[in-house]
Parts: sequence; structure tokens; C-alpha cells
Amino acid sequence: MSKVTSSTLIKFKKEGKKFTALTAYDASFAGAFDSEGVDVLLVGDSLGMVLQGHDDTLPVTIADIAYHTACVKRGISRSLLIADMPFMSYSTPEQTMTNAALLMQAGANMVKVEGGHWLLESVKMLTERGIPVCAHLGLTPQSVHVFGGFKVQGRDAENAQRILDEAKALQAAGAQLLVVECIPPQLAKAITQALTIPVIGIGAGADTDGQILVMHDVLGISSGYIPRFSKNYLKQTGEIRSAIRAYIDEVANGTFPAEEHTFN
Ligand code: KIV
Repeated sequence: MSKVTSSTLIKFKKEGKKFTALTAYDASFAGAFDSEGVDVLLVGDSLGMVLQGHDDTLPVTIADIAYHTACVKRGISRSLLIADMPFMSYSTPEQTMTNAALLMQAGANMVKVEGGHWLLESVKMLTERGIPVCAHLGLTPQSVHVFGGFKVQGRDAENAQRILDEAKALQAAGAQLLVVECIPPQLAKAITQALTIPVIGIGAGADTDGQILVMHDVLGISSGYIPRFSKNYLKQTGEIRSAIRAYIDEVANGTFPAEEHTFN
């Protein structure tokens, strides 16, 4: 199977083919996800919670992400590999450039940044210098203390409009992919229809172009709590590779996410 690139994902969007993404942090799991057909792998800063045991993603460093990106890269051949830029590693355009380059040199195909209007200059600079960008809007976990907890975003008309405007501005600045997290499904649908770049949802309903989940949630081993928007596919299938195939199939045929996984 040929390597997934941003062009592949745009083709999927045009064809209405739903694609899957999953977090991965090491070569072995990443290799299994890649060979089962997960299109996009993200070395998420969620590793601060699921690998390191922190309460949020803020303690994660650029060295942590670079290390895990290099591990994942060695295990895969097909999936598009995105690396998260951690908290405070992209607070100025210059700092963003230096740190994004480290992640690309570690093996990433694209970097992901959380935020809207304040990031436009950085997104433009990265793209112009050969670093593809995945933007991330909605419940952006690095802002958990600004939000006052892990809360659904864009519920009222004003905030929904702001998120939609930011999505359009990020695309105009050069972002090639967008993750929307924990927003109402109607808003996610409006963003997906308004953009030409692919939109990946998590807790954002079934109408985005792709879905992403944290691997520990899919395998039911997150410490004691599985978010409402996620699904334990290991419980359903009893075997890791079958669990991943079930996730891919349910995203492809539109049965995941179901109503119970969305925030209406
Ligand atoms: O860090 C992460 O795993 C993420 C996904 C939940 C989208 O950003």
C-alpha cells in the first residue's frame, strides 16, 4: 500500500471516504496500527497523561515528543506521521520554527499546534519553509486551565462562530489538516463543509472527514476512565489487531462515532 500523504487525505475527502487516525508512541504498536491500515498516526502530547501519568499534557517537552516520534517512525511504512508540538514550544514564530524542525528531523511528516488566530503567522512561516501543519481547535488540552477543565467548546453561537472563523483563517494561512476536539456535531459538520482541507474529529460527531482516538482508550487501558466520546474496541473484539480493524471499519461505514459518543 502506498504511503499516506496530505494529498491522499484530500483525495479521501473529495471521495467522501472516511479515514482513521490514532495516537501512537512506540515502534511496536505503531507498526501494528500501520499494517492494519490506520491512515494517520499522531505522537500526541497525550503521552504526558497516558505514558507519564500526569493530570494534563503541560509537562511534556519537545525532547519527549522527538524521542517518541523517532520510535514510531522506525515502526511504520504507510501511515502519515504527525508530531504534536507541546505546551510552550511554539509561543513565538522563531521558537516554533526551531522546535518544529526538531520534530521533522525526528521523522514527523507534519506537526500539530493548538490554537486559532494567534498562530496564523507561525502556520504561514512553517508552511512556507516546508513544514506541513495540522491545526487543532475546540477543546485544546494545553489550554485546560484557561477553560477551567476539560470542557466541550463552541456550545454558544458566539464561540461556535469564532471557531469556524479560526478554522477558515488557519486554512488560509496554509494549514493542511485540522483536528477539532469536543465540539457540538453541528459545528464540526459546518467546519468540515466550509473547508477544503480534511477535518479530523474527536468528540465532534460523525460528520468530519476522519476520526482520531487515543490508543489507550481504544484498548481500554486508560487509567480508570474512558472519555464518553471514545470506545473500547478491545472489549468488543478481545484481540488488539481485531480491535484496530473494528475501529477502522466502524469509522469507514459511519457507525462510529454514534449518538452516545457526541455532545449534542
Ligand atoms: O495529544 C493527543 O493525543 C491529541 C489527540 C487527542 C487529538 O491531541
